[in-house]
Amino acid sequence: MVSLWKRLIQRFGFGQGAAVSALHENQIYEVVGEEGFRRLIAAFYAQVPDDDVLGPMYPQGDLAGAEDRLRGFLIFRFGGPQTYIEERGHPRLRGRHAPFTLDQAARDRWVQLMDNAFAIAELPEAAVAVMKPFLAGVATFLLNSD
Ligand code: HEM
Repeated sequence: MVSLWKRLIQRFGFGQGAAVSALHENQIYEVVGEEGFRRLIAAFYAQVPDDDVLGPMYPQGDLAGAEDRLRGFLIFRFGGPQTYIEERGHPRLRGRHAPFTLDQAARDRWVQLMDNAFAIAELPEAAVAVMKPFLAGVATFLLNSD
């Protein structure tokens, strides 16, 4: 059963920034739901093919697969089903990004497209307040080129 508190957060995106209401990372899936992750990641990938920096890096013939992988990873990382791990094993994010040149420009563009996706997906604010800094932090961690 969904607690009253979680229903309030779902309904109002309630209390962003207040320490008392900060969601733990593994509560995000419950608040956002499968459908919310689907909206967010679809909105991200819809921008990729025409992007001058990121478009050439992604597999144009398998963008749907790339979308599944990123969505599956985030669902696992934010407290949802572990399907990504069962299918792909340990994420090894730095190793899996090693074939690509992740410089500041690529990092900033990735974060910008994700911010655009958040604006489109309209997820509960309390979840967005945790997800955005997490994603920006991982993007910085993945930098592998000057
Ligand atoms: C810094 C800018 C980033 C760039 C330019 C970038 C680029 C890419 C590219 C080109 C792929 C291959 C697409 C595929 O076939 O799956 C990929 C895969 C992936 N990326 Fe990123 N990425 C970035 C940041 C991130 C961040 C911040 C995360 C997570 C928070 C992330 C998570 C993933 C995951 C989970 C995969 C699939 C790994 C696998 O299972 O093979 N990436 N990324």
